[in-house]
Amino acid sequence: MDKLEIIGGSPLSGQVRISGAKNAALPILTASLLADSPVILENIPHLNDVTTTVKLLRWVGAGITFHDGVQLEVDPSGISRFEAPYELVKTMRASVLVLGPLLSRYGQADVSLPGGCAIGARPVNIHVNGLRSMGADVTIDNGYIRARAKQLRGSRLVLDTVTVTGTENLIMAAVLAKGESVIENAAKEPEIVDLVEVLSKMGAVIEGAGTEKIRIQGVESLKGIEHSILPDRIESSTFLVAAAITGGCITIKRTRTEHLKAVLDKLNEAGGKITTGNDWVKLDMSGQRPQAVDIITAPYPGFPTDMQAQFCALNSVASGNAKITETIFENRFQHALELQRLGADIIIDGNTAISCGVRRLKGAPVMATDLRASASLVLAGLAAEGTTTVDRIYHIDRGYECIEEKLSQLGAEIRRLPS
Ligand code: EPU
Repeated sequence: MDKLEIIGGSPLSGQVRISGAKNAALPILTASLLADSPVILENIPHLNDVTTTVKLLRWVGAGITFHDGVQLEVDPSGISRFEAPYELVKTMRASVLVLGPLLSRYGQADVSLPGGCAIGARPVNIHVNGLRSMGADVTIDNGYIRARAKQLRGSRLVLDTVTVTGTENLIMAAVLAKGESVIENAAKEPEIVDLVEVLSKMGAVIEGAGTEKIRIQGVESLKGIEHSILPDRIESSTFLVAAAITGGCITIKRTRTEHLKAVLDKLNEAGGKITTGNDWVKLDMSGQRPQAVDIITAPYPGFPTDMQAQFCALNSVASGNAKITETIFENRFQHALELQRLGADIIIDGNTAISCGVRRLKGAPVMATDLRASASLVLAGLAAEGTTTVDRIYHIDRGYECIEEKLSQLGAEIRRLPS
């Protein structure tokens, strides 16, 4: 297994270009199964989760062509399998996103149950119950969700919990259902708005994306389109924390500033001097140690759970005490134990991490347990004295494109040690 070796201590400086958003690319790739003709996507990030999704699309029979390494074309005309097998779902839970498209377009979908994962139980009951309300016959059998429906019918769906992929699956099911669907308590993440933009270009009739009530009028068919994936707000935010934790000054480019508000507010509170344009953000710490910040994670537009681990790393070296409360996932503090190995003073009390910042972390071998935990360990390594090696780095390759190249470009001493 590859490792990352980081020699910490250098303040980051320079500019870095943000990639397309993983969590928009995955549902948009599966949405292409709904179309009658090819879908052409740009700004698709080179990530392991994208590779897994492309494998899944190929497995169900979609034609995949890369044009000049810039565009990815999905031709859905040859779909002949209606299944997401365990082998693919077990490496990436987002495979469940084929459930809605396969069922609404082809009347059947057998998707392996994702099961729990490192950060929590992550059930899919809301996806399943929503499809049942739309008239689908759904059984759970031999570890598979088996869904059947000749024609889904529109329905009013009130989601018990705000769920991102649940909202996406149900929107993708509703676009080809008969009649109107209304999703209440829908997730409002920018990735949902990007997915809805794609579906609308294809011919779907959807109102209210980005609000808690989404109204969808089912249509007969959808057509192929071209689309460029929105920039990744979590990658954007992770680089800004990298600058803050090292006392550096960087500019992130090709981002969407309006999606970063909750994180920028916290970075400002931490002492970062922030200047912004529409598609760039500059953060300057002027060599200062950050101030510790209290955080409570919440669905968008609240503070993202996907940035919680990175702020735990920031608080570890910040001046003062702070509390970070995780409200979305029940087991998302595994990075705290690894940060302790670098000398962080953090204790976990239920769903809260209480930290007392230390002046310097000390490099040590640590192990990544999930994608965002691995990002937090890399950030901590950048701030630590001496050498940190982060093991099980395959987690980071699921969600950060060329992380070591981009960090090196900003002056970090980081290299990949192949297994
Ligand atoms: N939930 C249920 N029942 C359901 C679905 C969700 O109880 O049927 C609960 C979950 O257990 C959790 C909460 O609802 O407590 C929210 O989970 P959500 O469904 O929103 O998470 P997700 O859709 O599986 C997406 C992202 C995650 C991100 C979360 C929260 C994708 C592919 N994944 O997951 O991204 O953390 O939303 O914002 O969009 C990551 O990129 O590292 C990552 C984990």
